[in-house]
Amino acid sequence: AVPNRFTEQLIAWQKVAGRHGLPWQNTRDPYRIWLSEIMLQQTQVSTVIPYYLRFLDSFPTVMALAAAPIESVIEHWAGLGYYARARNLHKCAQQVASQFEGQFPASAEALAELPGIGRSTAAAVAAFAFGQRAAILDGNVKRVLCRQFGVEGFPGEAAIHRQLWQLAESLLPEGDIEPYTQGLMDLGATLCTRSRPRCGDCPVAAGCVARRDGRTAELPMTKAR
Ligand code: ADE
Repeated sequence: AVPNRFTEQLIAWQKVAGRHGLPWQNTRDPYRIWLSEIMLQQTQVSTVIPYYLRFLDSFPTVMALAAAPIESVIEHWAGLGYYARARNLHKCAQQVASQFEGQFPASAEALAELPGIGRSTAAAVAAFAFGQRAAILDGNVKRVLCRQFGVEGFPGEAAIHRQLWQLAESLLPEGDIEPYTQGLMDLGATLCTRSRPRCGDCPVAAGCVARRDGRTAELPMTKAR
């Protein structure tokens, strides 16, 4: 990857202004990181925190989770919604227990084979738990990239989706993958929001195509209809 301003400014910003004290940060325990990423897939941080803490209290390790009855796992999930996540979570814990002796595999590719872990979640776990250079691309990150680089077209369309993955890969830093990955998440969640982006506070506003062209409301594009 070529060093680029976007990546460098994002890393510098995350270190001083990004989110730091979240309960799943400051750990390299893949179990804790994986659990947080699954909970955060469709639920916001403030909602997740109490669930996350109670869950860890009851199931402190992947082995404990694997051994728990599914009913108990579902009970701890109650209120988070999207119960398929809880079922896959339990299934995943059982596979890690039976196939990997309770040790999560250390690569994004291997993680993505497990139930409930898609490509982006696999990359987030690989980056935060193992320091692996792997690209994330969730809804927030798509919005950041479409705006910053003026990516046209609906991100739900296969060709655009592929283009965004390629872009995400090309931006990866050589080092500092953790603050970079967290910075992308933080930017999308806190400043580069869908309807009210706070460009005045954005560390990468200077290079942002959507901001330059007054098109933050248009990018990312929605499904053509
Ligand atoms: N959303 C998804 N992953 C996250 C993380 N690690 N921290 C904050 N928000 C997130």
